[in-house]
Amino acid sequence: MQLKNDLLLRVIRGEKVARTPVWLMRQAGRILPEYRAVRNSVSGFIELAKTPELAAEVTIQPVDILGVDAAIIFSDILVIPEAMGLPYEMVEKRGPWFPHTISSESDIKKIHVPDIKDRLSYVLEAIKITKKGLNGRVPLIGFAGAPWTIFAYMVEGSGSKTFSKARAMLYQDPVLAHTLLEMITISTVKYLKAQIEAGANVVQVFDSWAGILPPNHYREFSLKYIETICHAITEVPVTVFAKGAFFARREMGALACDVVGLDWNMEIAESIELIGQKKAFQGNLDPAALYGTEESIKQATFRMMDAFSGTRHIANLGHGLYPDIDPGKVKLFIELVKQYGV
Ligand code: CP3
Repeated sequence: MQLKNDLLLRVIRGEKVARTPVWLMRQAGRILPEYRAVRNSVSGFIELAKTPELAAEVTIQPVDILGVDAAIIFSDILVIPEAMGLPYEMVEKRGPWFPHTISSESDIKKIHVPDIKDRLSYVLEAIKITKKGLNGRVPLIGFAGAPWTIFAYMVEGSGSKTFSKARAMLYQDPVLAHTLLEMITISTVKYLKAQIEAGANVVQVFDSWAGILPPNHYREFSLKYIETICHAITEVPVTVFAKGAFFARREMGALACDVVGLDWNMEIAESIELIGQKKAFQGNLDPAALYGTEESIKQATFRMMDAFSGTRHIANLGHGLYPDIDPGKVKLFIELVKQYGV
């Protein structure tokens, strides 16, 4: 179907646009009272994500309410470990928790590369319903975690400041680590391809824990697998967002991806120089800027837009929205990007 608003895809292809497209990481979620109402109608996050009609509804909410130029499917990166045989729970106010983790060869024997259409049919169904509901208004973004970030949760068993168990495995048993990373990579490629077949117009790979590895380990245990994914996905554009991987920006420029996401610690001019203009850029306002006054939000937004001008740019935050950000301020950010033009 022909998209009515294809600004995001045009920027990625390097075509002329009248203004910069904008969407926000974690736009489908807790900042909206409309989201919380749907969320409260079920037992929790996981049930919501597994109910395709409701997942589609909250995916479309930010398009209707905030006026963003893309939707991102409501799900989580942790559906992959679950499909591989490692279920997770979402503990209120604390985040994800895995009753079983991977620490040995025998743990790996208990997991498998999943049949995506069997284990993750609920995500594929949600994508199909979302596409119908969007009716071509904006593109739909599919996503997955980068193998390293998924590995970090599967080994650590929960979020962590240091992910020291996950990082320890890279020194103690690198062979085991690579075995697990390979399984995750194969599963992720299959999963992204299934999302594309169901209707995703762009896919994003989130390497949320890129920034905790030293550069040599980042290359060996993360970038290598991201590169495999980029090479395998040829059907739609791929965005790589590696939070904290400032030390790997030059290598990002050499990846077979179309868009590089920048976090808010990455200086824009320096990033453009290191990554090069073959890529489109996505980002990178500090999410905390949206706690500011209207005037300070305007200044920060225009400062970011000025710094990206002359590049192919998709406006976004440098990481996901925080749950207590005022939706009015989020709307203001979106309006300011739209006013700015290109
Ligand atoms: O961006 C979107 O709006 C689409 C939906 C989306 C969610 N998670 C929904 C969600 C996306 C793209 C994700 C990705 C995700 N999940 C990442 C990568 C991006 C990032 O933030 O770095 C990571 C690391 C996770 C793992 C995860 N899921 C954590 C650590 C948590 C708990 C902390 C938190 O942010 O709430 C989640 C839960 C989660 N995923 C919620 C939502 C809306 C909150 C659940 C709820 O209470 O409703």
